[in-house]
Amino acid sequence: MSLDVSLIRRIADKVGTPFWLYDASVLRQRISDILFMTDSPHVQPRFAMKSCPITKVLKEMKGSNVWIDAVSGNEALRALRAGYAAGNNPPLVCFTADVFRDNALDVVMENNLLPNIGSPGMIRQLAAAGYSGPVSIRVNPGFGHGHVNTCDTGGPSSKHGVWHSDLMTVKSVAESAGMQVVMLHAHIGSGPQYQELHDNLTRLAIEFRDLVKQFPALTAVSLGGGIPHNYRQRESQIPVEPLHELFISCQQRISAAAHRELRLEIEPGRYYVAPSCTLITRVHDLKQTQTNEKGRGATFAMVDAGFVDLVRPAMYGSYHQIEVLGKEKSNDEPEQIVVAGPLCESGDVFTRGGADEELQPRLLPRPEPGDFLALRDAGAYGYAMSSNYNSIGRAPQVWLEADGSLEIISRRETIEDLLRIEGSERI
Ligand SMILES: Cc1ncc(COP(=O)(O)O)c(C=O)c1O
Repeated sequence: MSLDVSLIRRIADKVGTPFWLYDASVLRQRISDILFMTDSPHVQPRFAMKSCPITKVLKEMKGSNVWIDAVSGNEALRALRAGYAAGNNPPLVCFTADVFRDNALDVVMENNLLPNIGSPGMIRQLAAAGYSGPVSIRVNPGFGHGHVNTCDTGGPSSKHGVWHSDLMTVKSVAESAGMQVVMLHAHIGSGPQYQELHDNLTRLAIEFRDLVKQFPALTAVSLGGGIPHNYRQRESQIPVEPLHELFISCQQRISAAAHRELRLEIEPGRYYVAPSCTLITRVHDLKQTQTNEKGRGATFAMVDAGFVDLVRPAMYGSYHQIEVLGKEKSNDEPEQIVVAGPLCESGDVFTRGGADEELQPRLLPRPEPGDFLALRDAGAYGYAMSSNYNSIGRAPQVWLEADGSLEIISRRETIEDLLRIEGSERI
């Protein structure tokens, strides 16, 4: 969808820049894609809420009967406050982590959530806390692919889950502490290519199928998340039909091996939310460096959003399409532009990439100070990963409803918000 500059100006006049703009229709389309992929009574989608935990989005998920994967005590509490029911039968909110941090163990116990164990010692911690309910075990199957190497979620270099050859030991420890293993889980990452996702999911389903006989209390297996979003070719997204067929056939084959119906779960994050939100920023200046013996000169568009808002380019060299709003159809010759933010960090640049994450200027219509830039597909791991670095408050989030109405769903953080937790309590 193209963004109307007068709408963006109207919002900017109200909330300032930068801001996040959610498009409800795009989110609902992605939810309906997932509902289509999982359209079978024994296939259940969850939402990996870490990707975008705002209540408004959680309520959309709940309204579509999408369950939740939470990774911290506070994420689980957010889901409960958004209206999800506590309890493990059915486990609407599943708690997945490698470490029980802060309130996590208490939240799991108090709300009877299904814990998805990512490290063997978590069984001992649960037992020590007096827990004897059902558990899920997150397995590291030894293979997988993240969208970048640091996001690799399966294999010897991944910190996630219980290494596959330790699975039976962990199961015995759980059972001797009175806990039944009701779910086996793995999240193997998407990788950039659809075929690789398909092959990895199929391989994982086969491994689970071979295990189910040894887990008599099993009621579900989860293939995790990792359905990719194509950030570079936005018009070319993964085909949903083959994933529908894949999930149905995995559920049937795993159930046939178990001789009873087992639930097959998936828990994407990015796929639901990535295209539903755009980060809008304003150009404040244009400036130039000149080529010298150290390297090539560049034209910098200095904008008011930085990696405190959208960290993915600085963190992973991730690509987000950038548009100069109102100039999409300009006849002027486009120029190579580096888009950089306000932070006191030279890495605060949105146009980076390559093996050394060097500057990668983008061919754009030359922006002027005052123009708005749109950083597309910022809904997943966007606001969710934003920070207060440089004491810049988090930017507001605005919701565009299908009928054109607008709502501020979180306001800009103020200095009072930032200072509220500081004190001088003696201990
Ligand atoms: C356990 C688990 N499930 C699901 C996801 C969601 O992944 P994605 O957003 O790529 O679908 C993640 C992401 O890191 C994860 O760790």
